[in-house]
Amino acid sequence: MMASVFSFAIVFSAVAVAVSVSVSAVARVSIPFHQDSVSFVNSSGNNGTTMILPLFFNNHNHHRRKEHFHTRRHLHTRSTRNARMPLHDDLLLNGYYTTRLWIGTPPQRFALIVDTGSTVTYVPCSTCERCGKHQDPKFQPELSSTYQPVKCNIDCTCDRDREQCIYERQYAEMSSSSGVLGEDIVSFGNQSELEPQRAVFGCENMETGDLYSQHADGIMGLGRGDLSIVDQLVDKVVIRDSFSLCYGGMDVGGGAMVLGGISPPADMVFTPSDPVRSPYYNIELREIHVAGKKLPLNPRVFDVKHGTVLDSGTTYAYLPEVAFGAFKEAIFKEVHSLKRIQGPDPNYKDICFSGAGSDASQLSKAFPSVEMVFANGQKLLLSPENYLFRHSKVRGSYCLGIFQNGKDPTTLLGGIIVRNTLVTYDREHEKIGFWKTNCSELWDRLQVSSAPPPLPSGTNDMGTDMAPVLAPSEPPLPKTTGQSTESTDD
Ligand SMILES: *[C@@H]1O[C@H](CO)[C@@H](O)[C@H](O)[C@H]1NC(C)=O
Ligand SMILES: *[C@@H]1O[C@H](CO)[C@@H](O)[C@H](O)[C@H]1NC(C)=O
Ligand SMILES: *[C@@H]1O[C@H](CO)[C@@H](O)[C@H](O)[C@H]1NC(C)=O
Ligand SMILES: *[C@@H]1O[C@H](CO)[C@@H](O)[C@H](O)[C@H]1NC(C)=O
Repeated sequence: MMASVFSFAIVFSAVAVAVSVSVSAVARVSIPFHQDSVSFVNSSGNNGTTMILPLFFNNHNHHRRKEHFHTRRHLHTRSTRNARMPLHDDLLLNGYYTTRLWIGTPPQRFALIVDTGSTVTYVPCSTCERCGKHQDPKFQPELSSTYQPVKCNIDCTCDRDREQCIYERQYAEMSSSSGVLGEDIVSFGNQSELEPQRAVFGCENMETGDLYSQHADGIMGLGRGDLSIVDQLVDKVVIRDSFSLCYGGMDVGGGAMVLGGISPPADMVFTPSDPVRSPYYNIELREIHVAGKKLPLNPRVFDVKHGTVLDSGTTYAYLPEVAFGAFKEAIFKEVHSLKRIQGPDPNYKDICFSGAGSDASQLSKAFPSVEMVFANGQKLLLSPENYLFRHSKVRGSYCLGIFQNGKDPTTLLGGIIVRNTLVTYDREHEKIGFWKTNCSELWDRLQVSSAPPPLPSGTNDMGTDMAPVLAPSEPPLPKTTGQSTESTDD
């Protein structure tokens, strides 16, 4: 279903990937944006590499998505499987989390950065004229018996010979990826119940900047758009319109991800996520509390420009100027026992504290809890590891991982905010859920705390090898369900 292929793409950032292998200082700096860009962030790090991934979209595409609602809701009554996939790497150490994806017959394996801020999934192609050295060999379409080029059509940008569709992604900071679009069987690993599926992906012929130098092979795009792997699987009615990410905690890394629906734990906290608000995954943040006290802010500060955007590919978090000022002051008031020290990189004015001890599990003794309050009044409790990162040079010291978003009024919440938190992007119900958990034990924990009542035997069409907890929780939607989104667009 590779319908619209960005013909007038809007560049913008959605992900900062630090390639450096040292956990050092941090990103800050927002780049002057293009009209429609979410802000960005220069990651310092001794090699100071930052990659900014775009989410390309156009109104046409956006509109088209809305048209899908009807079909999707009905078809969803049958789609029940999901893909369970482990995550590797670490947001602060590597700058990203990756998952493994297999493409072709026989399958060729890739390590792809999971990114909710971009759409197309791409891997280096054997025909690549300029690709870096990554952790796996390039994709060799010629060795796959099931590969097919996506033929030139009116919905895509065609190559010079008008034979095959091409894609191009440009990022601020001079990173880019371009290549051809191909279609092949994609498999999701041996822990996944979702059987391999045909999908469209990019076969790269050119990489520049951090996309060239990074260790990971490419990107897995989980954003909103027809080329997104999520949209493709949903359009094929093989998964529900939802996915989840769970990032490991401080010093742990790794984690888990699920493409498709899961049964949400009873105490999962939700916020509405309006797909029309922006091309990103927005949440409706209204207040921030520090040590139980509400910051003195007008809730509208979190709704300016792109609003509050959740981006799995961004490392840290960025607040509008006034919100950051209030947050910082509130933290200062609560950390009496600690000493302010210089950040790991003299080029940046990191706000760091010593005296909290090396044991990350004891951080809440020295640092206050922080809560985010959503429009519906639900609260997400953040532990210190959700707003602090380890000082790379001074033992037992930590620095604020929340920064001012330059002069950009967008609130951008990256991976640090959701460490050890299961985040469910429930696109079907236009909401995003958060559940604090140990992501290293996600499967066990979901099972314990959210196992649905046993299904009557013989009435479900799920494989016997799947964990019952991962079955979709809701009963099939009755066809009469009248959600406002359905009735308002036709
Ligand atoms: C990002 O960092 C690089 C090198 O550290 C610097 O040259 C560049 O100006 C920075 N970008 C922004 C937008 O500040
Ligand atoms: C980062 O810098 C270190 C030394 O400063 C160097 O050894 C390493 O190769 C650099 N890594 C990258 C990805 O440039
Ligand atoms: C799944 O595959 C990995 C290698 O990709 C292997 O190490 C592991 O043992 C396999 N697990 C099962 C249950 O087959
Ligand atoms: C999370 O689970 C892993 C694996 O069982 C364990 O090693 C780790 O200590 C746990 N983390 C916390 C904070 O309990």
